[in-house]
Amino acid sequence: MRISIIGSGYVGLCTAVGFASKGHEVICVDIDEEKVKKINNSETPIFEENLENMLKDAISKKLLYATTNINDAIINSDISFITVGTPSMLNGDMSLEYIKKASEDIGNTLEKKNSYHVIVVKSTVLPETTEKIIIPIIEKDSGKIVGRNFGICMNPEFLREGKAISDFINPDRIVIGEYDKKTGDILEKLYKDFDSPIIRTSLKTAEMIKYASNAFLATKISFINEIGNICKKLGIDTNEVAKAMGLDKRISPHFLESGIGFGGSCFPKDVSALINKAKKINYESKLLETVIDINRNQPEKIVEILLKKMDIKGKKIAVLGLAFKPKTDDIRDSPAISVINSLMNKGAKIYAYDPKAELNAKKIIPDINYCKSIGEALDNSDACLILTDWPEFKSLSDKDFSRMNKKIIIEGRKVLENVDNFEGVCW
Ligand code: UGA
Repeated sequence: MRISIIGSGYVGLCTAVGFASKGHEVICVDIDEEKVKKINNSETPIFEENLENMLKDAISKKLLYATTNINDAIINSDISFITVGTPSMLNGDMSLEYIKKASEDIGNTLEKKNSYHVIVVKSTVLPETTEKIIIPIIEKDSGKIVGRNFGICMNPEFLREGKAISDFINPDRIVIGEYDKKTGDILEKLYKDFDSPIIRTSLKTAEMIKYASNAFLATKISFINEIGNICKKLGIDTNEVAKAMGLDKRISPHFLESGIGFGGSCFPKDVSALINKAKKINYESKLLETVIDINRNQPEKIVEILLKKMDIKGKKIAVLGLAFKPKTDDIRDSPAISVINSLMNKGAKIYAYDPKAELNAKKIIPDINYCKSIGEALDNSDACLILTDWPEFKSLSDKDFSRMNKKIIIEGRKVLENVDNFEGVCW
């Protein structure tokens, strides 16, 4: 099939190379000319495992190109995915600015297109958004009628950053929310080469499945952090508790890692948006509000442990890891930022190292010392906090830490394997 992807961020680009790898012809659309140029030169604007190889492959087979011209892309495709961002606003609501603009552009182009076109909403949008906002804009601007001249589906993404390509190719499930059977059948056909259950449902149910999935995973993390905070006071290693709990098939071992809390561009934003949506329909989500509260307080736990050991004013604190999780350069809502701000407010001097996230971190926390190596951060430091579980921190040994002034090591994520004396935030 000929596919256009509107919005070439990490979801859009991974979706694009994923479909191209299945032999479909894909056109990526973005308003950012630099990004479009990069994609056409087989360069990835973001860091994502295997993305560059697959992009190179798709371009060399002439199965993918990028453009800023949304009209041409829609005219020359049969199916268009909306993969633009839905960022959080200050009040926790999600911004629909890019969704509305993409819907207007699609509507204006469909006005000139005679053949049936399928639109697939892949951006994360709250229940009722496709029906109450996207469809009316497209109908108004195209003068056409949904179900007759064009079809629409809602097909949420479940891609983890850092693993997005493999999650796209091997999904646990594919959810197709459909306006009508005809459009759902077309989208199911597009996914016929994927070895995964396909769930067909309504548009708003598909939208809710995405939010419920992220809210559940975030709840699981705040739950294990709550247990972890209790364990810490009792001198119990939470990791041992989680390991035994996870062997119960009903619980499962995934997302039971305690630490300094969840970050990233999805969980904090999606849970807050769902809480706000519930409020608007007169429901107070006490559970989800607590999930956010626990997560907000979790980074401070590692600072509290450090303060019990020393006065940090004027001291050199080595920080290993800035990204919200390993294998990404993303620092959006990273708990490391809260930890560093708190340390700086208390007068500490920060020497930070991250294998990938330095450039992005500099935009948000410019006033700390960025180190080019783990050793540079550790040299003569008075304490070390490990805030991201990068694989390269696993092999650190007592010898590496011997360059510290005082050997106070506290982990915010479970990572060290060869070190004798250290403490964890919940262990
Ligand atoms: C998350 C979901 O896992 C994806 O399924 C979803 O598609 C995506 O959001 C999205 O909505 O687009 P992502 O934000 O990339 O993916 O990251 P995760 O791997 O889920 O981790 C999120 C945060 O939770 C990280 O800060 C991680 O360190 C933390 N975490 C995760 C824990 O603190 N404990 C755990 O046990 C697992």
